[in-house]
Amino acid sequence: MAQFWKPGTEKPRLVDDEEGGVLFFSGGFSSSSSSSGYGYASIEKQRQRLPVYKYRTAILYLVETHATTIIVGETGSGKTTQIPQFLKEAGWASGGRLIACTQPRRLAVQAVASRVAEEMGVKLGEEVGYTIRFEDVTKPDVTVLKFLTDGVLLREMMDDPLLTKYSVIMVDEAHERSISTDILLGLLKKVQKRRPELRLIISSATIEAKAMSDFFRKRKKRRELENEENGIQLEPAILSVEGRGFNVQINYVEEPVQDYVQAAVSTVLLIHEREPPGDILVFLTGQDDIDAAVQLIADEVQTSKKHSPGLVVLPLYSGLPRAEQELVFSPTPRGKRKVIISTNIAETSLTLEGIVYVVDSGFSKQKFYNPITDVENLVVAPISKASAKQRAGRAGRVRPGKCYRLYAEEYFLNHMSNEAIPEIQRSNLVSCIIHLKALGIDNILGFDWPASPSPEAMIRALEVLYSLGVLDDDAKLTSPTGFQVAEIPLDPMISKMIIASNQFGCSEEIITVAAVLSIQSIWISGRGIQKESDEAKLRFAAAEGDHVTFLNVYKGFLQSGKSSQWCHKNYVNYHAMRKVLEVREQLKRIAQRIGIVLKSCESDMQVVRKAVTAGFFTNTCRLEEYSHNGMYKTIRGSQEVYIHPSSVLFRVNPKWIIYNSLVSTDRQYMRNVISIDPSWLLEAAPHFYQLQQSNPLH
Ligand code: CDP
Ligand code: MG
Repeated sequence: MAQFWKPGTEKPRLVDDEEGGVLFFSGGFSSSSSSSGYGYASIEKQRQRLPVYKYRTAILYLVETHATTIIVGETGSGKTTQIPQFLKEAGWASGGRLIACTQPRRLAVQAVASRVAEEMGVKLGEEVGYTIRFEDVTKPDVTVLKFLTDGVLLREMMDDPLLTKYSVIMVDEAHERSISTDILLGLLKKVQKRRPELRLIISSATIEAKAMSDFFRKRKKRRELENEENGIQLEPAILSVEGRGFNVQINYVEEPVQDYVQAAVSTVLLIHEREPPGDILVFLTGQDDIDAAVQLIADEVQTSKKHSPGLVVLPLYSGLPRAEQELVFSPTPRGKRKVIISTNIAETSLTLEGIVYVVDSGFSKQKFYNPITDVENLVVAPISKASAKQRAGRAGRVRPGKCYRLYAEEYFLNHMSNEAIPEIQRSNLVSCIIHLKALGIDNILGFDWPASPSPEAMIRALEVLYSLGVLDDDAKLTSPTGFQVAEIPLDPMISKMIIASNQFGCSEEIITVAAVLSIQSIWISGRGIQKESDEAKLRFAAAEGDHVTFLNVYKGFLQSGKSSQWCHKNYVNYHAMRKVLEVREQLKRIAQRIGIVLKSCESDMQVVRKAVTAGFFTNTCRLEEYSHNGMYKTIRGSQEVYIHPSSVLFRVNPKWIIYNSLVSTDRQYMRNVISIDPSWLLEAAPHFYQLQQSNPLH
C-alpha cells in the first residue's frame, strides 16, 4: 500500500498544535443509535444531553428581551436542531406566526428539517417543513418551523419585504459568510427598524461575535427608545454555548503531498489497518475527486484481501440523490467502519455521528472573481486555519479522536490564512445587485454591508446589468425586462436567456436548457467508465455544442417514456433527469406568469443559440488563430481558457463560442459550451460590444 508520508517515517508525526498540542471541542457526549458505542437513547434523552439544552432558559430569555441574539457554539452542540424547537415550545409560533431557520446549503436544509421533524414526531412538510430553490415542502397554515436557504428567504422578501409572517428568524451558519447570508444580514437590520418586534438570532460555530455585534449595534432613535421601555433591548446579546469536548490529536505530513486524493486514500487505508474502530471523515473538494477517491478505495479493497470487508465507503456532496444522502446518516453496520468522503459541507453544516478520524486534504472549492477580467470561477484552493480547526473538531465528538492533515505543519503555521474572505468579496455581484434593486434599494454603494464588496466589482456588475437591459440609465430596473429577470430564481444571465427565447420563439427548448444548467450534471461519470460514457455521449452530441446536446438527451428521455433503463443504457443520470423535469415544470409556471409564451422552435437550433447569446454574451471567447492546443481568449478580459474535456466541443474547437461557467484546475476550463456567430453579439448587446475597445469583433 502506498504511504503518503516520507518513506522511513513510520507514522505521521504528532506535533504540538499552536495551542499546545490539543484542541478541545464540545458536544462529545451525545449518543445515538449509531456506532458510537453508547447504545440507543431515546430522542428526548439525546436532546437533553446536547450542550444547548442547559442554555434553554437563557436563550429564551435573551430572545424575549433582545432584538438580536448572537449564539456561538461548536458544531454538534444542538444550535440548529434545538433552538427552533425551544422557540416553538415557548410560543413564538403561536397565532399564525412562523419561525425561520436559514442555512447556506440546500443539503443541510433538507437534512436538518428531516431530523427536527423526527425529533418532534411529525411528518416532514407538516409542522416542520423546508424550502429550497425549486422544492417547497411546507404546508400553509400548518408549517410553523421552516428551514430554508438564505437565498430562498431573500426571494421571499420580494413578495413580503418585511417578512411579516415570521416572528423569529435564525440566520444559522453565519460564520460561513455566504453571499446570501451577508445580504440577508444587511436587509434584516433594515427590516428590524420597521418591525421592532421581529427577533433575530445569528448563530454560528466560530463567528467573530464582536464584529457581528458591532454590526447590529444601533443608534437609539425615539421610537426605538420606546421599544426599550417595552422591554426589548436593542444592543445585541451574545451567548456562548460551552460544551464538554474530547481531545483531537493532530498529525501532519512531513512533506507536501503531490496528489491529495491518492494521499487521502492511503491514509484511510492506513487508519483502517492500524487504528481501533471508529468512523472516518475525509474532506476533499467536490464530486470529481470524491467519486475518484471512493473508486480508488473500492479498487484497493478488491485487490488486497487485507482491507476487506470492513469498510463502508460513502460520498457526501450536494447533488447526491436523496437515498445516498440518507446512508451517510444511517448507523454504521456492526463490525464495519464507515468512511465518509465529503466536501466542506461536513465541516460545520452537518453533524455526523461516530466520527473518530478526520483526514483533511487542506483544500476546498471556492469561488473567485476577478473584476478586472470579469471572470468568476470555482477554484480548488487552500482552506483557512479556521476551517482546518473546524475539520479537526469533527473527530472529537464521541471520544478522543485523530486528525490527519495532508499538509505540513510549517504550512499550517506560517502560510495558511486565518479566516476565509467573505464570499461577497470574491463574487460576481450581478445577482446580488439585481436582488437589492428589486427590493427597492437603489443606493447599492451606500448599503449597510457586513463586509463591503469592492467598488470595481460593483461597477462591473452594473455595466453587465445595463448591457443585459436589466438596468436603465438611472440604474433602475427596466420594465418589463428588469422586473422579469428579477422574478426568475436563476442566475440573471439564464433568466435573460429565457426572456429572450420569447422573441425567438424557442421558450420550450430554452427552459429545458435552463433546467439542465441548474443541475450539476446529467451524465453518469466516474473512473473506469469514462470510455463507455464518452461513447454514449457521442450518440447525442450536436455540432452546435452542449446546450443542443442536452436537448437531444431530453428528447430521447421523453421518447423512452422517461425510462430509467434508457438512462442506464446511455450513461445518463436518471435522478438528474427527474430533477430536470421538476425544475422545468416550475420554470414553465414562472415563465407563463411573467408573460412568456411557451413555444417550440422544433428543429431550428439557430434561434436557440441566439437566445443563449442574448443571455451569455459576456462569456464569449474566440479561438486563438495559431493555437494548436485549443486555446481560447475571453473577449472581455483576454483570459486564456480551454474547452472542458466533458464538453462535446472538446477538440472540435469552433472559432467563436460562449461558455456557461469556468472551472479551474491546471487550466481554466469552460463548461457547457455552444458555438455562435459573432454577428449575433452586436444584435444581443450593442452597448456592451461597442464599449470593448481592445477587442473589436472581427
Ligand atoms: O447546529 P449544531 O452544529 O450546533 O448541532 P445540530 O446540527 O443541532 O446537531 C445536534 C445533534 O443532533 C447532533 O449531535 C446529532 O446527534 C443530532 N443530529 C442527527 O443525529 N442527525 C442530523 N441529521 C442532525 C443532527
Ligand atoms: Mg448547525
